[in-house]
Amino acid sequence: MNNQPIGFLDSGVGGLTVVKESLKQLPNETVYYVGDTKRCPYGSRPVEEIREFTWEMVEFLVKKGVKMIVIACNTATAVTLEEIKKTLKIPVIGVIIPGSIAALRVTQTQRIGVIGTEGTIHSGQYPKAILSKYKNANVFGLACPKFVPLVESGEYRSEKAREVVEETLKEMTEHNIDTLVMGCTHYPLLKPLIQDAMGESVTLVNPGSETVSEASMLLDYYEIPAEQNTDQMQHRFYTTGEVETFREISSSWLPLDDIHIEHIDLG
Ligand code: DGL
Repeated sequence: MNNQPIGFLDSGVGGLTVVKESLKQLPNETVYYVGDTKRCPYGSRPVEEIREFTWEMVEFLVKKGVKMIVIACNTATAVTLEEIKKTLKIPVIGVIIPGSIAALRVTQTQRIGVIGTEGTIHSGQYPKAILSKYKNANVFGLACPKFVPLVESGEYRSEKAREVVEETLKEMTEHNIDTLVMGCTHYPLLKPLIQDAMGESVTLVNPGSETVSEASMLLDYYEIPAEQNTDQMQHRFYTTGEVETFREISSSWLPLDDIHIEHIDLG
Protein backbone atom coordinates (compact mmCIF):
# COMPACT_ATOMS: atom_id res chain seq x y z
CA MET A 1 0.00 0.00 0.00
CA ASN A 2 1.19 3.50 -0.80
CA ASN A 3 -0.80 6.70 -0.25
CA GLN A 4 1.51 8.98 -2.22
CA PRO A 5 -0.23 10.78 -5.11
CA ILE A 6 -0.21 9.84 -8.79
CA GLY A 7 1.22 12.63 -10.96
CA PHE A 8 -0.55 13.64 -14.18
CA LEU A 9 0.84 16.15 -16.67
CA ASP A 10 -0.31 17.92 -19.79
CA SER A 11 0.40 21.06 -21.77
CA GLY A 12 -2.82 22.57 -20.35
CA VAL A 13 -6.29 21.43 -19.32
CA GLY A 14 -6.42 18.43 -21.68
CA GLY A 15 -5.06 15.94 -19.17
CA LEU A 16 -8.11 16.64 -16.97
CA THR A 17 -9.97 14.25 -19.28
CA VAL A 18 -7.59 11.52 -18.04
CA VAL A 19 -7.94 12.68 -14.43
CA LYS A 20 -11.71 12.37 -14.80
CA GLU A 21 -11.21 8.69 -15.64
CA SER A 22 -8.86 8.29 -12.70
CA LEU A 23 -11.40 9.74 -10.25
CA LYS A 24 -13.88 7.19 -11.57
CA GLN A 25 -11.70 4.08 -11.84
CA LEU A 26 -9.25 4.78 -9.01
CA PRO A 27 -11.27 6.64 -6.36
CA ASN A 28 -8.76 5.91 -3.57
CA GLU A 29 -5.89 7.56 -5.42
CA THR A 30 -4.80 11.14 -4.81
CA VAL A 31 -4.21 13.20 -7.97
CA TYR A 32 -1.44 15.75 -8.42
CA TYR A 33 -1.84 17.46 -11.78
CA VAL A 34 0.35 19.92 -13.61
CA GLY A 35 -0.80 21.78 -16.73
CA ASP A 36 1.64 24.04 -18.57
CA THR A 37 -1.17 26.34 -19.75
CA LYS A 38 1.13 29.30 -20.22
CA ARG A 39 3.13 27.52 -22.93
CA CYS A 40 0.19 25.60 -24.44
CA PRO A 41 -0.17 24.44 -27.19
CA TYR A 42 2.78 22.08 -27.42
CA GLY A 43 1.48 20.44 -30.60
CA SER A 44 3.15 22.77 -33.09
CA ARG A 45 6.39 23.29 -31.15
CA PRO A 46 9.77 21.79 -32.09
CA VAL A 47 10.52 18.40 -30.57
CA GLU A 48 13.37 19.79 -28.42
CA GLU A 49 11.07 22.30 -26.77
CA ILE A 50 8.41 19.69 -26.07
CA ARG A 51 11.07 17.49 -24.48
CA GLU A 52 12.44 20.32 -22.30
CA PHE A 53 9.01 21.48 -21.10
CA THR A 54 7.84 17.95 -20.38
CA TRP A 55 10.92 17.23 -18.30
CA GLU A 56 10.27 20.38 -16.27
CA MET A 57 6.79 19.08 -15.40
CA VAL A 58 8.14 15.61 -14.61
CA GLU A 59 10.78 17.04 -12.27
CA PHE A 60 8.15 19.18 -10.55
CA LEU A 61 5.97 16.14 -9.89
CA VAL A 62 8.88 13.98 -8.75
CA LYS A 63 9.81 16.66 -6.18
CA LYS A 64 6.22 16.53 -4.94
CA GLY A 65 6.73 12.84 -4.15
CA VAL A 66 4.44 11.14 -6.68
CA LYS A 67 4.57 7.35 -6.86
CA MET A 68 3.70 7.09 -10.56
CA ILE A 69 3.53 9.45 -13.54
CA VAL A 70 0.83 9.46 -16.19
CA ILE A 71 1.85 11.52 -19.20
CA ALA A 72 -1.70 12.67 -19.95
CA CYS A 73 -0.65 14.34 -23.18
CA ASN A 74 -0.24 12.55 -26.50
CA THR A 75 2.27 15.06 -27.85
CA ALA A 76 4.53 14.70 -24.80
CA THR A 77 4.06 10.92 -24.86
CA ALA A 78 5.11 10.76 -28.52
CA VAL A 79 8.30 12.71 -27.86
CA THR A 80 9.43 11.74 -24.37
CA LEU A 81 7.79 8.63 -22.94
CA GLU A 82 10.65 6.23 -23.62
CA GLU A 83 13.40 8.41 -22.14
CA ILE A 84 11.34 9.35 -19.07
CA LYS A 85 10.53 5.70 -18.45
CA LYS A 86 14.20 4.76 -18.70
CA THR A 87 15.33 7.57 -16.39
CA LEU A 88 12.85 7.44 -13.51
CA LYS A 89 12.63 4.72 -10.89
CA ILE A 90 8.84 5.05 -10.53
CA PRO A 91 6.37 3.66 -13.12
CA VAL A 92 5.60 6.02 -16.02
CA ILE A 93 2.86 5.54 -18.58
CA GLY A 94 1.71 7.42 -21.66
CA VAL A 95 -1.56 7.53 -23.57
CA ILE A 96 -0.62 6.29 -27.06
CA ILE A 97 -0.30 2.54 -26.52
CA PRO A 98 -3.46 2.36 -24.38
CA GLY A 99 -5.29 4.42 -27.04
CA SER A 100 -4.13 2.05 -29.77
CA ILE A 101 -5.23 -1.01 -27.81
CA ALA A 102 -8.64 0.55 -27.18
CA ALA A 103 -9.06 1.32 -30.91
CA LEU A 104 -8.25 -2.25 -31.92
CA ARG A 105 -10.71 -3.54 -29.36
CA VAL A 106 -13.66 -1.61 -30.80
CA THR A 107 -13.00 -1.60 -34.55
CA GLN A 108 -14.88 -4.09 -36.73
CA THR A 109 -13.40 -3.05 -40.07
CA GLN A 110 -9.81 -2.29 -38.94
CA ARG A 111 -10.13 1.11 -40.62
CA ILE A 112 -9.05 3.45 -37.83
CA GLY A 113 -8.71 7.24 -37.87
CA VAL A 114 -6.47 9.13 -35.48
CA ILE A 115 -6.79 12.86 -34.84
CA GLY A 116 -4.20 14.73 -32.82
CA THR A 117 -1.79 17.64 -32.74
CA GLU A 118 0.75 18.16 -35.50
CA GLY A 119 3.44 16.79 -33.16
CA THR A 120 1.53 13.58 -32.46
CA ILE A 121 0.47 12.94 -36.05
CA HIS A 122 3.91 13.70 -37.53
CA SER A 123 5.60 11.45 -34.96
CA GLY A 124 3.87 8.44 -36.53
CA GLN A 125 3.55 6.84 -33.08
CA TYR A 126 -0.11 5.87 -33.40
CA PRO A 127 0.22 3.95 -36.71
CA LYS A 128 3.39 2.35 -35.32
CA ALA A 129 1.62 1.19 -32.15
CA ILE A 130 -1.54 0.01 -33.96
CA LEU A 131 0.30 -1.78 -36.79
CA SER A 132 2.68 -3.47 -34.34
CA LYS A 133 -0.37 -5.20 -32.87
CA TYR A 134 -2.30 -5.78 -36.09
CA LYS A 135 -0.37 -5.33 -39.30
CA ASN A 136 -3.35 -5.33 -41.65
CA ALA A 137 -5.07 -2.38 -40.00
CA ASN A 138 -5.54 0.80 -42.05
CA VAL A 139 -4.67 3.89 -40.06
CA PHE A 140 -5.51 7.41 -41.22
CA GLY A 141 -4.00 10.37 -39.34
CA LEU A 142 -5.17 13.98 -39.34
CA ALA A 143 -3.63 16.90 -37.47
CA CYS A 144 -6.22 19.31 -36.03
CA PRO A 145 -4.20 22.31 -34.81
CA LYS A 146 -7.27 24.50 -34.38
CA PHE A 147 -8.89 22.28 -31.72
CA VAL A 148 -6.68 22.87 -28.67
CA PRO A 149 -7.03 26.70 -28.65
CA LEU A 150 -10.84 26.25 -28.68
CA VAL A 151 -10.62 24.14 -25.54
CA GLU A 152 -8.05 26.24 -23.69
CA SER A 153 -10.09 29.40 -24.26
CA GLY A 154 -13.22 27.70 -22.88
CA GLU A 155 -15.04 27.99 -26.24
CA TYR A 156 -15.43 24.26 -26.70
CA ARG A 157 -19.22 24.36 -26.66
CA SER A 158 -19.59 27.36 -29.00
CA GLU A 159 -21.04 27.59 -32.50
CA LYS A 160 -17.60 28.60 -33.72
CA ALA A 161 -16.19 25.35 -32.30
CA ARG A 162 -18.87 23.37 -34.14
CA GLU A 163 -17.92 25.00 -37.45
CA VAL A 164 -14.18 24.47 -36.95
CA VAL A 165 -14.64 20.82 -35.98
CA GLU A 166 -16.94 20.09 -38.91
CA GLU A 167 -14.67 21.81 -41.42
CA THR A 168 -11.49 20.14 -40.11
CA LEU A 169 -12.93 16.62 -39.97
CA LYS A 170 -14.39 16.69 -43.50
CA GLU A 171 -11.23 15.03 -44.80
CA MET A 172 -11.48 12.25 -42.18
CA THR A 173 -15.06 11.41 -43.16
CA GLU A 174 -13.80 10.37 -46.62
CA HIS A 175 -11.79 7.39 -45.31
CA ASN A 176 -14.74 5.19 -44.42
CA ILE A 177 -13.43 4.49 -40.92
CA ASP A 178 -15.50 2.89 -38.16
CA THR A 179 -13.30 4.02 -35.25
CA LEU A 180 -11.71 7.37 -34.46
CA VAL A 181 -9.08 7.83 -31.76
CA MET A 182 -9.20 11.21 -30.04
CA GLY A 183 -5.41 11.29 -29.96
CA CYS A 184 -5.13 14.50 -27.98
CA THR A 185 -6.34 14.68 -24.40
CA HIS A 186 -8.06 18.01 -25.06
CA TYR A 187 -10.41 16.47 -27.63
CA PRO A 188 -12.84 14.60 -25.33
CA LEU A 189 -14.10 18.07 -24.34
CA LEU A 190 -15.15 18.46 -27.99
CA LYS A 191 -16.61 14.96 -28.16
CA PRO A 192 -20.25 15.88 -28.96
CA LEU A 193 -19.07 18.06 -31.85
CA ILE A 194 -16.63 15.44 -33.13
CA GLN A 195 -19.35 12.78 -32.98
CA ASP A 196 -21.77 15.00 -34.93
CA ALA A 197 -19.13 15.71 -37.57
CA MET A 198 -18.19 12.04 -38.00
CA GLY A 199 -21.70 10.57 -37.76
CA GLU A 200 -23.12 7.93 -35.43
CA SER A 201 -21.53 5.00 -37.31
CA VAL A 202 -18.05 6.01 -36.09
CA THR A 203 -17.04 4.98 -32.56
CA LEU A 204 -14.92 7.54 -30.76
CA VAL A 205 -12.09 6.25 -28.59
CA ASN A 206 -10.85 8.20 -25.57
CA PRO A 207 -7.37 6.84 -24.73
CA GLY A 208 -7.69 8.26 -21.20
CA SER A 209 -9.99 5.50 -20.08
CA GLU A 210 -7.66 2.69 -21.21
CA THR A 211 -4.65 4.57 -19.81
CA VAL A 212 -6.19 4.62 -16.35
CA SER A 213 -6.99 0.90 -16.61
CA GLU A 214 -3.31 0.34 -17.37
CA ALA A 215 -2.32 2.55 -14.42
CA SER A 216 -4.61 0.49 -12.23
CA MET A 217 -2.91 -2.75 -13.30
CA LEU A 218 0.53 -1.25 -12.68
CA LEU A 219 -0.45 -0.10 -9.17
CA ASP A 220 -1.38 -3.67 -8.37
CA TYR A 221 1.68 -5.12 -10.08
CA TYR A 222 4.05 -2.89 -8.07
CA GLU A 223 1.90 -3.30 -4.95
CA ILE A 224 1.47 0.44 -4.54
CA PRO A 225 -2.29 1.11 -4.59
CA ALA A 226 -3.58 3.57 -1.97
CA GLU A 227 -5.54 2.47 1.07
CA GLN A 228 -9.23 3.16 1.26
CA ASN A 229 -8.88 6.37 3.25
CA THR A 230 -10.60 9.22 1.49
CA ASP A 231 -10.54 11.56 4.55
CA GLN A 232 -6.88 12.28 4.04
CA MET A 233 -7.12 12.77 0.29
CA GLN A 234 -6.25 16.18 -1.10
CA HIS A 235 -6.05 16.42 -4.87
CA ARG A 236 -3.85 19.26 -6.10
CA PHE A 237 -3.83 21.02 -9.44
CA TYR A 238 -0.99 23.27 -10.62
CA THR A 239 -1.09 25.53 -13.65
CA THR A 240 1.49 27.83 -15.19
CA GLY A 241 -1.40 29.95 -16.52
CA GLU A 242 -4.41 31.78 -15.10
CA VAL A 243 -5.91 30.05 -12.07
CA GLU A 244 -9.42 31.35 -12.81
CA THR A 245 -9.61 29.99 -16.38
CA PHE A 246 -8.25 26.67 -15.15
CA ARG A 247 -10.86 26.67 -12.37
CA GLU A 248 -13.75 27.29 -14.79
CA ILE A 249 -12.80 24.38 -17.03
CA SER A 250 -11.85 21.99 -14.24
CA SER A 251 -14.97 22.61 -12.21
CA SER A 252 -17.27 22.10 -15.16
CA TRP A 253 -15.41 18.93 -16.18
CA LEU A 254 -14.48 17.18 -12.91
CA PRO A 255 -16.88 15.82 -10.28
CA LEU A 256 -15.07 17.65 -7.45
CA ASP A 257 -16.54 20.31 -5.17
CA ASP A 258 -13.58 22.18 -3.89
CA ILE A 259 -10.70 22.15 -6.34
CA HIS A 260 -7.30 23.15 -4.97
CA ILE A 261 -5.51 25.04 -7.77
CA GLU A 262 -2.17 26.82 -7.51
CA HIS A 263 -0.24 28.92 -9.98
CA ILE A 264 3.36 27.83 -10.55
CA ASP A 265 6.23 28.93 -12.76
CA LEU A 266 8.30 26.40 -14.65
CA GLY A 267 11.49 26.90 -16.58
N1 DGL B 1 -3.31 17.65 -24.79
C1 DGL B 1 -2.15 17.45 -25.57
C2 DGL B 1 -2.12 16.16 -26.33
O1 DGL B 1 -2.73 15.20 -25.91
C3 DGL B 1 -1.49 18.54 -26.32
C4 DGL B 1 -2.17 19.73 -26.78
C5 DGL B 1 -1.17 20.78 -27.22
O2 DGL B 1 -0.56 21.35 -26.33
O3 DGL B 1 -1.01 21.01 -28.42
O4 DGL B 1 -1.47 16.04 -27.32
